[in-house]
Amino acid sequence: MYRLAPSLLSANFARLGEEVDNVLAAGADWIHFDVMDNHYVPNLTVGPLVCEAIRPLANAPIDVHLMVKPVDRIIGDFIAAGADIITFHPEASEHIDRSLALIRDGGAKAGLVFNPATPLHYLDHLMDRLDIVLLMSVNPGFGGQTFIPGTLAKLAAVRARLDAWRQESGHEILLEIDGGVKIDNIAAIARAGADTFVAGSAIFGAGRGGDPHRYDTIISRLRAELPA
Ligand code: DX5
Ligand code: ZN
Repeated sequence: MYRLAPSLLSANFARLGEEVDNVLAAGADWIHFDVMDNHYVPNLTVGPLVCEAIRPLANAPIDVHLMVKPVDRIIGDFIAAGADIITFHPEASEHIDRSLALIRDGGAKAGLVFNPATPLHYLDHLMDRLDIVLLMSVNPGFGGQTFIPGTLAKLAAVRARLDAWRQESGHEILLEIDGGVKIDNIAAIARAGADTFVAGSAIFGAGRGGDPHRYDTIISRLRAELPA
């Protein structure tokens, strides 16, 4: 019913394979893979080569969050690298419908990401193209930021739209939240409507990677907060 997706952004990049193994062994459901280009966002991270390298280690879906502009050229590379889910920011694509179609045509699940100030009208004409909606609860670019409280009302608004769409079409769209998710706010975030939770610094710590022996404790504590 709920999915926890640790963000590798806060992991120890010198031991990335072990970090993937350890969070999955600790009970994570997905691996959240943040791709930043120093253009759409002011930071630079990892690309398809690293996704391909962790693919054989991850016996779980790899959730690729593209913070890049332009979007389309890189989609095929991530499909080839084994991405299971690919999301992108609508402002970063010239042709949103086409970008979504490219992802699904490649066999991956497709989704849009909304920044804190991105309006929801992007959902108006493409619900049938979506497998997932990702709401940012911080401005994208960095781990370890504080959850923006106004995101709770936005989550509830998206939840209502997704529920209406499921009634109408029978198709379920997942609702993922990304940014500042912690043990003390995950319950409220779930009550507002999220079913999938990215957590970077909460799991890996504020530095470059945390204590792997604590990952299972943290993941269990996050899960224990979730309403039945
Ligand atoms: C931010 C990234 C997030 C980030 C979340 O741009 O999209 O996935 O890693 O980190 P925390 O959980 O520390 O806010
Ligand atoms: Zn992310």
